[in-house]
Amino acid sequence: MDYYNLSALDRKYVWHPFTQMKEWAEGDPIVIGEGSGCFIKDVRGRWYLDGVSSLWVNIFGHRKKEIDDAVKKQIDRIAHSTLLGLASEPSVLLAARLIRLLGESLPDDTMPPLTRVFYSDNGSTAVEAALKMAFQYWLHKGVTGKNAFLSLNMAYHGDTIGAVSAGGIEIFHGTFKPLLFKTFRSPAPYCYRCELGLDRGICAMACIDEMERILEEHHKEIAAVIIEPKMQAAGGMIAAPDGFLRGVRRLCTKYGVTLIADEVATGFGRTGRMFACASEGVVPDIICLSKGLTGGYLPLAVTVATEEIYNAFLGEYGQMKQFFHGHSYTGNPIGCAAALAVVDLFDKEDILTRLRPKIERLDKWLRQILRHDHVGNTRSAGFMAGVELVKNKETREAYPIEDKTGWKVALDVRKKGVFLRPLGDCIVIMPPLTISEENLTAMLTRIEESICSVTEKSSV
Ligand SMILES: Cc1ncc(COP(=O)(O)O)c(C=O)c1O
Repeated sequence: MDYYNLSALDRKYVWHPFTQMKEWAEGDPIVIGEGSGCFIKDVRGRWYLDGVSSLWVNIFGHRKKEIDDAVKKQIDRIAHSTLLGLASEPSVLLAARLIRLLGESLPDDTMPPLTRVFYSDNGSTAVEAALKMAFQYWLHKGVTGKNAFLSLNMAYHGDTIGAVSAGGIEIFHGTFKPLLFKTFRSPAPYCYRCELGLDRGICAMACIDEMERILEEHHKEIAAVIIEPKMQAAGGMIAAPDGFLRGVRRLCTKYGVTLIADEVATGFGRTGRMFACASEGVVPDIICLSKGLTGGYLPLAVTVATEEIYNAFLGEYGQMKQFFHGHSYTGNPIGCAAALAVVDLFDKEDILTRLRPKIERLDKWLRQILRHDHVGNTRSAGFMAGVELVKNKETREAYPIEDKTGWKVALDVRKKGVFLRPLGDCIVIMPPLTISEENLTAMLTRIEESICSVTEKSSV
C-alpha cells in the first residue's frame, strides 16, 4: 500500500502512545517499512539512523542475521505453548542461560545470587510481577503490614497501575493518583536540579540520608524499594552519582526491605556493563529485565528473584502459597529463542569490549556540547545519554513547555536523517550498541547542528 493510504489509515484508526492525537492527525507521520543495521526506512524510501534503538530495544539494530535465524528456526518448530502447566524448551534454556549470566555479572560473596526466572511480556509486567512478588514474599514470611513501596521522585517503571504507583513523574503519573497504592518517595539523585537545594560538591549524597530517614520511620510498612540503577531514564536521563546504588543496597539490607532493580532500560550492555548493578558491585533481591532482552524482536521480560524469595512460595497445595500472577504469552518460545540469540551475540561479537571506544566518543561529545549556550547539563551512563536544553544557562531556567524545544530539535534532525525521541527538553541519545564509530560521529554532528540551529533561533 502506498504512503498516502497508509498514513490516512493510521490517522483514522491508530491511537499512538504518549501522543497528542489532535496534533498527530494534522501531521505527516513517518511510516516505517523496513530496517537494516542501525537504520530504519520509511515507505517513501527515506532512511533514518535509529538514534533511540526503536525505544531502547534494538540493541543490535535491525535485521540481525543471528536473531532472524533463531526466530525463523523456532517458528518452524512451535510459535507458542503456555508455561501454565507446561514447560518449553526455549524458556528452560533461556532461564538457565540468564542465571549463569547474572551470576557471572553480579558476583558477590555476601549476597545470595539471583536464581529463579519468572517470565512476562514487557517492562511494565516485569515490574508488576516484582512488586507483587515482594509483597507476597513478606506475607509468606509472616511479616504483615508491608503494604507500601518506596521509589524515587522522577522514577519511571512502566504504565500498568502497579508500575504507575511506583512512578514519580508528575506529568505521566499525576492523573492516575486516585487509583494508585501507597508509595513513599525519596529524592531523585538529580544533581543538576537537586531537590534538597544542595551542590554535588558538598552534599555528601544527602538524598541517601533522606531515603534512610523514610526507611527508619516506615520500614515496617515498606515491602520493597524499587529503583532504576545508575540511570533514571524516562524521568529525563538522570544519572545517579557513584555510590548511590550501593547506598540503597546498604539501606535495604539494614532495614529488611526487598531491593528491586528495574534494569528494563539499563540491562543488556546499555551502561557499558552487562547490567548496571555490576558497576557498583550490587546484587538486588529481584531484577527486572526486558527491552534489550530480545534485541527488539519480541515483547518478553523476566523478573528474576533469589532462592530465598522463591523458597518462601513453596508449600503444600492447600496452603495456596503459589505466586498469583501469569500472562497468556508468558515465556513465549519465539521470544525466548530470540533472547538466547541475543545472549550468544554478546560473547560472539564481544559487544561490551567493542562498545568502549564508542562510549569514549560519546563522552567526549557530551563534554564538547556542554559549551553550548543552551545546553544546561549532559548526563550519561555508558551508552545512554541525555542533553538537557535550557533557556538560560546561568539561572538553569527551563524553556516554557509550549515552546517544544526538544521536539523542534528532533524534527530538525529528522530532516538530516536521524530519528530521535526526546523527553521534553532532554535530548535522548541511545543508538544501537553495534553502531559504527563513523555513524555515531555523523549522528552526533547532526544532533549538535540541530541543537544549535533550534536554540539559536529561539533566542533571537
Ligand atoms: C526502567 C523502565 N522500567 C519499565 C519500563 C516499561 O517497559 P515497557 O514499556 O516495556 O512496559 C521502562 C520503559 O521505558 C523503563 O525504562
